[in-house]
Amino acid sequence: MKDFKGKVAVVTGGGSGLGRAMALTFAGEGMDVAIADVDLGAADKVAGEIRAKGQRAITANVDVTNRAAMGAFADRVYGELGGCHVLCNNAGVSTFIPVHQLSEADWDWVVGVDLLGVLYGIQAFLPRMITQKQGGHIVNTSSIAGQVPLSGIVPYHAAKYAVVGLTESLVIDLKSENISASALCPGLVKTGIGSSGRARPDRFGGPTAPDPVQAAVDSSGYDPMDVAALVLKAVREDVTWILTHPEYRPQIEARRDKILAAYDWAKAG
Ligand SMILES: NC(=O)c1ccc[n+]([C@@H]2O[C@H](COP(=O)([O-])OP(=O)(O)OC[C@H]3O[C@@H](n4cnc5c(N)ncnc54)[C@H](O)[C@@H]3O)[C@@H](O)[C@H]2O)c1
Repeated sequence: MKDFKGKVAVVTGGGSGLGRAMALTFAGEGMDVAIADVDLGAADKVAGEIRAKGQRAITANVDVTNRAAMGAFADRVYGELGGCHVLCNNAGVSTFIPVHQLSEADWDWVVGVDLLGVLYGIQAFLPRMITQKQGGHIVNTSSIAGQVPLSGIVPYHAAKYAVVGLTESLVIDLKSENISASALCPGLVKTGIGSSGRARPDRFGGPTAPDPVQAAVDSSGYDPMDVAALVLKAVREDVTWILTHPEYRPQIEARRDKILAAYDWAKAG
């Protein structure tokens, strides 16, 4: 996608962190922006920043795990902003709990937000993006945890690998519609992810306080605006995997080599 001016970006989880950074970055390119977030106050603040740049912005209190609410959000975006050209399925959460101690609600929450949230975004917006016949780009926020295994975040891994697979399929299946897709796969970025329990809906057990490990996550890593700049470049140049942290390259290579070695093992019979 080369032209952004006058078009519309939709960002889930746009009230904080990477979503806020993407919303501001696309607004900086002359796009109007719609933000869905369970934290409406945070989303409204970002909308204020966007309006100060001279762009239109709307917000909605939407839980991405609610399929009907995502559909209603899409109706509003099309009604009030007239389209969707860049769809950022970005809202995400994580637990930092050993796999054998996870509750059913922990699993449901993380897989619900990180995988089903992406799916519901696609279901709500993609058919209309196709009908509007103006092309577009879908950015699904995965993680480096969607590329290489890391410890202590099993449901997060499951969802983030799935998001990468889903995105790769979209790239193939949507070519003829002039719509492309990217999977954003960052390492640590300075955001509120470590305290994502603050936004945990009641039906998944309600808000939880961050533990010290989680708090440390929030104060480390890349600047989200730098990551968002790379997202913009990837959308412009149609790059499928947005890999921000070069320090993970050896782990990606090691995983690839192990997979290929498994073929050799099978052949050796
Ligand atoms: N921060 C990192 O180090 C990092 C690394 C890799 C991937 N990511 C991914 O980046 C994405 C954004 O997270 P972040 O790091 O900016 O964290 P963040 O907590 O700063 O922002 C997440 C936003 O999503 C919102 N949200 C949470 N649950 C929601 C729900 N059910 N429905 C709608 N909105 C919801 C929150 O209110 C918040 O505004 C996530 O998908 C996360 O997995 C983050």
